Amino acid sequence: MDTIAEKIRALKEKQGAVILAHNYVSPEVQDLADFVGDSLELSIKARDAKAKTIVFCGVSFMAETAKLLSPDSKVLHPVPGAGCAMADMAKAEDIAAYRKAHPGTVIVAYVNTTAAAKAEVDLCCTSANAEKVIRSIPAGTEILFLPDRNLGQNVMNSTGRKMELWPGFCPVHNGIGPDMISAARKAHPEAVLFVHPECLPETVAAADMALSTGGMLRAVRESEAKEFIVGTEYGIIHRLKKENPDKVFYPLQPLPACGDMKKIRPEDVLRCLECGCGEVTLPADIMKRARLPVDRMLAL
Ligand code: 13P
Ligand code: SF4
Repeated sequence: MDTIAEKIRALKEKQGAVILAHNYVSPEVQDLADFVGDSLELSIKARDAKAKTIVFCGVSFMAETAKLLSPDSKVLHPVPGAGCAMADMAKAEDIAAYRKAHPGTVIVAYVNTTAAAKAEVDLCCTSANAEKVIRSIPAGTEILFLPDRNLGQNVMNSTGRKMELWPGFCPVHNGIGPDMISAARKAHPEAVLFVHPECLPETVAAADMALSTGGMLRAVRESEAKEFIVGTEYGIIHRLKKENPDKVFYPLQPLPACGDMKKIRPEDVLRCLECGCGEVTLPADIMKRARLPVDRMLAL
């Protein structure tokens, strides 16, 4: 009897499919993927894959971004109900109303937004390029940053730029308090400690570095240190360990976990390849308008 992984491999080859997975999905799903990465890396992979089918293992805004960038591919999301609580905090109609009330403001959306929300904004960014994107906007311009108030505040602190902040947040990263950082430092005084920039500014201030998930993987690869405290969703620890078997990784306590990222199981990947279900479809006008801010980001 073939295992699930073998069945997935056979179907993937037959259908010309590639499997993309975010750094937070479960280890078993990461191990099935052709490419595992952060939001920016996955967007670029999706754009360049030129695959007949992309199976996107992550949350729904990521699968939508893959569809925006690969309109000719069939993009399958194995569990369409796997969403992002922060993305749901910025509704397209509320952004459109803000634009009407503030016509001169440049609206920057973190990629953690629905395609409908992206269709209402000027520019996108991810946690890996947020500073660069904000610095690319001429000084003195009024900026609205959405939906993540923490990422927005952290970018304001590092760039010195002023922005209006939308009141959204990631429930997982917003829950990582400075108390968790000091407890981890006490337990592992030699370890380098990094957090995700979706964390509270006071948490970022207490860490050694704030990095995207891809940035964390690079920083560990390039560091001489042997021990690391990982201030983000614990799914990334699988890849950190796999790629750095000589280094030790400590999660924060209580363990930061994104339930939606963990909804995708190997059985779901197999099912969607078997039935072609979970296809991401977007209205033509959303495809056109939402792609613009993503393209502008990738062109920077
Ligand atoms: P990255 O782009 O750093 O992978 O982050 C995505 C995310 O959803 C963090 O919560
Ligand atoms: Fe969304 Fe937070 Fe989960 Fe990332 S960790 S997908 S921002 S809810």
